[in-house]
Amino acid sequence: MFWMLQSIRIAGGCRLKGEIEISGAKNLALPALVASILTSDRMVYKNVPNLADVRSLFDLLDCIGTEINYEDTHSVTLSTGTIKSATAPYDFVRKMRASILVLGALIARCKKATVSLPGGCAIGSRGVDLHIKALELMGAEISIENGYIEAKAPKGLTGCDITFPVVTVTGTENILMAAVLAHGTTRLINVAMEPEVEAFCELLNKMGARISGAGTSVITIEGVNELHGSEFEIIPDRIEAGTYAIATAITNGEVLLKNCKYDHLTSFFETLNLVGISCEQKENGVFVSHNTEEIRPISIQTAPYPGFPTDLQAQYTVLMSLCNGSASVTENIFENRFMHVPELARMGANISVHGKTAVVNGVKKLTGAQVMATDLRASVSLVIAGLVAEGETIVNRIYHLDRGYENLEEKLSNCGANVERFNV
Ligand code: UD1
Repeated sequence: MFWMLQSIRIAGGCRLKGEIEISGAKNLALPALVASILTSDRMVYKNVPNLADVRSLFDLLDCIGTEINYEDTHSVTLSTGTIKSATAPYDFVRKMRASILVLGALIARCKKATVSLPGGCAIGSRGVDLHIKALELMGAEISIENGYIEAKAPKGLTGCDITFPVVTVTGTENILMAAVLAHGTTRLINVAMEPEVEAFCELLNKMGARISGAGTSVITIEGVNELHGSEFEIIPDRIEAGTYAIATAITNGEVLLKNCKYDHLTSFFETLNLVGISCEQKENGVFVSHNTEEIRPISIQTAPYPGFPTDLQAQYTVLMSLCNGSASVTENIFENRFMHVPELARMGANISVHGKTAVVNGVKKLTGAQVMATDLRASVSLVIAGLVAEGETIVNRIYHLDRGYENLEEKLSNCGANVERFNV
């Protein structure tokens, strides 16, 4: 298919006002859709975000043998009567790292899997060694051949205690899928506690799994013989909500983030409160408003949930670039997640990076420029900068944005932003 390069043009200087409906969470939709491989029954999903990453995953599931039927834009049914191919080819995994999630599901269902190693990515090396080690502890024989993970467990996997030395979100989800159909009990220690992981366990339990401890650092899974079909609704995307919260704050706006749950982002909203931004849980979402010129400098460090999310670090850095003073932003999860900084410098920001810390000295204003980004969250941080910058900003390479933000221009324009997409 002919692939048209697109950019976004933003005329800075609006105040965002109105309501933004938060879509289903990308980081839950991906593992939840993969979980359909665990059963031959039909799965029904609601509130699935319409995103490039979801479409990439469907291409992979189609190749594995899943029948995919959309009921409407956000409802989809998946049936994997039989597995056609237990292989995830390089082209799929390269495009979307979360494809690695099929490893746990395929080995659980077929007792074997061949999955391409993802390789490096723009924000860091992002290994999958912990996924592999955990499967080996459960009895899988694994070798790496020609860039592929070849995993086999002819007699099935066996439950055991697994301690993760580092908290890994997709690692936790991958091993959960491996463990639900394993013999005996698996105890996962130091697991990810994200709301998406908790909701994912809820989905697996609805399918007949026996998981306890979801949302805490230790999860126990008693293996069962088979899972059955189920219906499941994807929870709202807290990272999308946090992104629009910052866009609202930086433009001195007032926006209701519909469906957003404050307690999924407590550390983030508490930080915004310290900065001087009001964020309040209402009946149908979180209301964000900022009516003063002041942006107090508040330093943050990213950390696994419930800490400050790394996926909101780039957006927060933009907010701090206009603070009244100086703040530090420390990235503890990924080693190369400051790619937005040189682009922000082109817009007038004063930020210096020292190892894993960015020192942000607030400036009076940003000015529009042509910029481009290398990953999803960096791209959206440049859009936020464009909303407040003087003059016109053009963000290039927006295919990153389409991976994780549904109807971005529409959602912003409905609140008064002057944003448009055009073909290059
Ligand atoms: C998930 C999210 C991503 C988010 C990240 C951290 C999805 C689809 N993506 O990514 O948006 O930014 O969590 O909150 O949910 N690590 C290893 N070895 C491993 C696994 C991880 O060294 O086997 C390291 C990574 O390099 C990284 C850290 O652990 O430094 C955390 O990564 P992880 O939680 O696994 O991130 P993802 O699950 O890929």
